[in-house]
Amino acid sequence: MALKRDTHKKFNELSREELEKKASVLAVRAKKLEELVEIISRGKYMWESTFDAITAPVQIVSGDYEILRANLTLASVSGKDIAKIIGKRCYEAFAGRDTPCEGCPLRGALEKDAKIVSPLGNEIARRDFEASAYPLTGGETRGSAVVYYRDVTEERRLQREVIQQEKMAAIGMLAGGVAHEINNPLGGILAFTQLMKRNVGGNESMLSDLEEVERAALRCKKIVADLLDFSRTSKDRERVLVDVNVILEKVFPFLQREMRSYNVELEFRGEPRLPPVLANPDRLQQVFINLMTNACHAMQKGGALFVETSSESNGKRVVIRVKDTGHGISKDICDRIFDPFFTTKEPGKGTGLGLSISYRIVKDHGGEIGCSAAEGGGTIFTVMLPAADDTDSKVRRQKSEDRSQ
Ligand SMILES: Nc1ncnc2c1ncn2[C@@H]1O[C@H](COP(=O)(O)OP(=O)(O)OP(=O)(O)O)[C@@H](O)[C@H]1O
Ligand SMILES: [Mg+2]
Repeated sequence: MALKRDTHKKFNELSREELEKKASVLAVRAKKLEELVEIISRGKYMWESTFDAITAPVQIVSGDYEILRANLTLASVSGKDIAKIIGKRCYEAFAGRDTPCEGCPLRGALEKDAKIVSPLGNEIARRDFEASAYPLTGGETRGSAVVYYRDVTEERRLQREVIQQEKMAAIGMLAGGVAHEINNPLGGILAFTQLMKRNVGGNESMLSDLEEVERAALRCKKIVADLLDFSRTSKDRERVLVDVNVILEKVFPFLQREMRSYNVELEFRGEPRLPPVLANPDRLQQVFINLMTNACHAMQKGGALFVETSSESNGKRVVIRVKDTGHGISKDICDRIFDPFFTTKEPGKGTGLGLSISYRIVKDHGGEIGCSAAEGGGTIFTVMLPAADDTDSKVRRQKSEDRSQ
């Protein structure tokens, strides 16, 4: 109050006492201001460190997609310096696109003045995200929104897997039933064709017709056998500790004819002392034959087939990679190749069951199978199998001891 009353007085008109009073009031005010600045900077620090501690990308964006604030996660996902993305369009700086993300909820949330959550149709840094936009209502921030991104890559992969498993189970049941029904009449056709072949005497044209019937019936039998195989789970089959390198070595001779006719060179790199896998050896052989036959078929003009084994995750997994230098697989085909009956081969050349059977076998062994494009063209199929743990080894050893007694 004293300060206010005296403001019209010049400083040099003030007495020493009055000056001292003014100085002490000013000192109190300066202290208060200092405290306020400290509270504000502490609040700012807390706010910024909380914002940066969020492990999901978060940003505040204006209605025309300009990034006003962003947290460190958003910068690291985009692979850019945080200082360089502020003021840029979010779809350019964060998503690396020329247009807003497919399904971006920002505009809708601002128009409706309500929170909108929407899955994005495009990937960001090769990950799938769901974006949530929360419009800001107060003062200067009006017209902008907080946009939060949730990484849903793993969730989507699991969803796809469940759908695939259900689809396989349904088709398996259906195919198994149909195959059983077809098997008996097919056996009859083959038996009668062979009888008739014996009775045609010198009638060449009749013989060649019957051979045609026999070939077609044998092919049907192979498809039926594949269908039965597909519908059967291998859980009921005996599993033993196997060395995947040994299984692969046994498979290569079966493929020699195929490799020679397609002019394919094989290179095998097996990791020495690979941990054993608890598996049915015949079923695993079937997977590798399927993958390598497909690889040969993809190299119509010849090429190289690399087969490699390694142990990963501290010896907890055995990984088998089958890589070819063939025509490769496009992204849309890649999503469908494990579907039963999916084939790009001409009619009569493929049934489209090879990979779906392989998928099922690998899943039954608690493993994973997937494909990706190889660098420089071609495809890599990766099979991951859990390595046998100590209990598996003990149980197996005990069983074989029991048997030998
Ligand atoms: N290594 C590969 N390179 C390119 N395309 C491949 C490769 N492996 C599989 N494919 C594609 O996946 C499809 C499905 O393969 P899958 O083994 O299930 O059936 P298929 O080989 O067509 O018939 P079959 O039942 O006789 O095996 C193939 O038709 C092919 O288009
Ligand atoms: Mg095949």
